[in-house]
Amino acid sequence: MTETTTTPQSRPAPPFAAVPVELAERRYEVLIGPGLIRDAVTTIERLLGPVRCGIVTDRHVAALHLAPLEASLAARGRHAGTLVLEPGEATKSMERLAEVTDGLIAMGLERSDIVIALGGGVIGDLAGFAASVIRRGLRYVQIPTTLLAQVDSSVGGKTAVNSRHGKNLIGAFHQPALVLADTDVLSTLPAREMRAGYAEVVKYGLLGDRRFYDWLTTHHASLFGNDAARLTEAVCRCVAAKAAIVARDETETGDRMLLNLGHTFGHALEAWAGYSSRLLHGEAVAIGMAQAFRYSEQAGLCPPGTAATVAAHLAAAGLPTRISEIAGPDRPTADELLRLMSQDKKVKAGRMTFILVRGIGEAFITREVEMAPLRAFLEAEIGLR
Ligand code: NAD
Ligand code: GLY
Repeated sequence: MTETTTTPQSRPAPPFAAVPVELAERRYEVLIGPGLIRDAVTTIERLLGPVRCGIVTDRHVAALHLAPLEASLAARGRHAGTLVLEPGEATKSMERLAEVTDGLIAMGLERSDIVIALGGGVIGDLAGFAASVIRRGLRYVQIPTTLLAQVDSSVGGKTAVNSRHGKNLIGAFHQPALVLADTDVLSTLPAREMRAGYAEVVKYGLLGDRRFYDWLTTHHASLFGNDAARLTEAVCRCVAAKAAIVARDETETGDRMLLNLGHTFGHALEAWAGYSSRLLHGEAVAIGMAQAFRYSEQAGLCPPGTAATVAAHLAAAGLPTRISEIAGPDRPTADELLRLMSQDKKVKAGRMTFILVRGIGEAFITREVEMAPLRAFLEAEIGLR
């Protein structure tokens, strides 16, 4: 998985890992390691040819990480322009999509040129969707700058903006042509965002890899302590897991739904909290995963004590596991959560899809969740302190 390159300037590049996403003619690589942004132009030219690049980013990321990327591209005449958007979930809107598509077209990008998404999941989802519709489809490169985006959203080609009816309801599957996960950029990520991203890291262990979960219980503190080698290893293991799932189910007709462990519960909470800083996506997923384990245990699907073990690990990583931990005095009702869950994209023939568990690393997909026990479970969850 690891390769070492030498740049045309004969400066040895740092070692990085290359994880392929095997999708036949849309195959691409996820390169993971330190320093990848500084040498972005070399990698892009090598893998994608002599292209011009339009960058989309947000204001926080621009202040910290845009300059080396622009410099790398400009040095070889490959920089077409940069669009800097406001940070936050509200940016994933039809209004900003119109602004980004217009801005990229105004840069004069041709069919063979590329869009670069430099940022977290918000920028990746928006810029990827813009790329999918400009000139009926431009290639794009993901340069994910949050832990969540490096281990999850930058890989697999789900792109979207939000509708007033719900999250990610307007979008497309459009695979990136390349992903450059530069682990150096994570050193500037606020601690809360790092923890939120960690929820998606644990998800891979919980859904299908007990050994990875055990590795995380031993090493999670070092991931937060800037241990570059362990961080790179964790990102690689997550990306490899996601790449394998995406390769066998690109458009989520089966196995890919496993990646939604904790998301049916979590999305409802995120929507109820108004997609605000009150509850970050990863925090909602952490509560949702804890709930999926508690529900499974109560339904007799997994051994007693499993849910408490999982919740204890999430809490040790500084993540919430209960609705009562969401900031603010108000609480959702069971009816509100059920209504929000029914908006989920995975609802089929009126039945919600749940990812439940038989144990750590043993998730499965089911539509056999009855409304009455689910409502009773949610009422108890809302009452928990
Ligand atoms: P985000 O993009 O909002 O980034 C979080 C915050 O961190 C922002 O304020 C951003 O400006 C800042 N930031 C980003 N990189 C930084 C860095 N290196 N240093 C300092 N600050 C930095 O949030 P996110 O958690 O990355 O992504 C959440 C979004 O991802 C949601 O919209 C969710 O729906 C989407 N998502 C998509 C997929 C998918 O498969 N497409 C998967 C999971 C989540
Ligand atoms: N984040 C879930 C997926 O990509 O399918």
